Amino acid sequence: MASGEATVFLNGELLPREQARISVEDRAFLFGDGVYEVTPAYGGRFFRLDRHLERLRKGLSALEIDYDPAHVPDIHERLLRANGLESAPAAVVYFQVTRGVAPRTHHFPPEPVPPTLYGYAKEYVRPERERWDAGWEAVTVQDQRWSRADLKTVCLLPNVLAQEAARKAGVADAILVRDGLALEGAHNNLFAVFGDRVATHPASNQILHGITREFVLELVREEGIPVEERPIPLEELQGASELFFTGTTTEIRPTVKVDGRPVGDSGVGPVTRALYQAFLEGVEG
Ligand SMILES: Cc1ncc(COP(=O)(O)O)c(C=O)c1O
Repeated sequence: MASGEATVFLNGELLPREQARISVEDRAFLFGDGVYEVTPAYGGRFFRLDRHLERLRKGLSALEIDYDPAHVPDIHERLLRANGLESAPAAVVYFQVTRGVAPRTHHFPPEPVPPTLYGYAKEYVRPERERWDAGWEAVTVQDQRWSRADLKTVCLLPNVLAQEAARKAGVADAILVRDGLALEGAHNNLFAVFGDRVATHPASNQILHGITREFVLELVREEGIPVEERPIPLEELQGASELFFTGTTTEIRPTVKVDGRPVGDSGVGPVTRALYQAFLEGVEG
C-alpha cells in the first residue's frame, strides 16, 4: 500500500484501512444514500475548508441526514497527521457521511440511526510542468445525471460512466452535455475562453458548485479578465480559443483537443497559463 493511505477514519476511530468494515446494510452501499467532500491541503494547510464544510452542510440538509459537521475540521487534521502528510506539498482528504445502517427500505429508517462517517487522506501529485504545458484531451458525453447535480452525493454512476467513456477514448476528461449545452466535467468544472472573455456554466442545479471553480472565478476577476457565468452551447464551445477544467484533484487542467479536434490554434493558451500561475501562487502562498 502506498504511504499516506494507510490510516482511515471510520465512525470516530482512526484505524488501518484493512481493518475498516462497514455493514452490508449501510444505506450508501444499498442506495448511494450519502454525501462526501474532497478537500485539498497544501503544505499541511487546508485550502478553503470552510467552503467545503458549507457545501457538505447543504448536502446533508437537502438529504435530511442528521449530522453536525462541527468535528469535521478536526477529523481532517487527524487524518493528515496519522498518514504523515502534514507537510506534504499537496494532499487531499476524502470525507463521507451516509445515512447509516438500517434494514433496506426506500424511505428513511423509521427509527433514526447514527450516520456512517468515513474518511481517508492521500497525497496529491501534481503533473510535471512539461506534461501540463502539452495539455490534455477531452471527449463529449451525454449528461445522464439527475436534476440535483449541485449536491455532492455518492450517487456517482453517471459520472463514472462518463469518465469511463473518456478513459476508453484514451483522454483525460469528459465534457457533460445536456440539451446542447456543455455543462462541466465528470469530476470537475469547465471553463472556456472566447477571445478576451472567460465563460463557465452558472452555479445552477445542473452542475456541482466547485470550490476550485469559485477560486478560479476570483482569479479571473483579479486578472481583470471579463467573465460570464452563462450556459455555453456545445457549438459555441467548439469555437473556443482555450478550454480548461478545474477541481480539487484537477487544479487547472488545460484541454487542447475535444473529440479529436484542436481547441484554438496554439496548444495551451495565455489565459489558462496566467490563471494557472495565479492558482499556484494562491494555493501555496
Ligand atoms: C461533477 C463535479 N464537478 C466539479 C467538481 C469540482 O469541485 P471542487 O472544485 O470543489 O473539487 C467535482 C469534484 O469532485 C465534481 O465531482
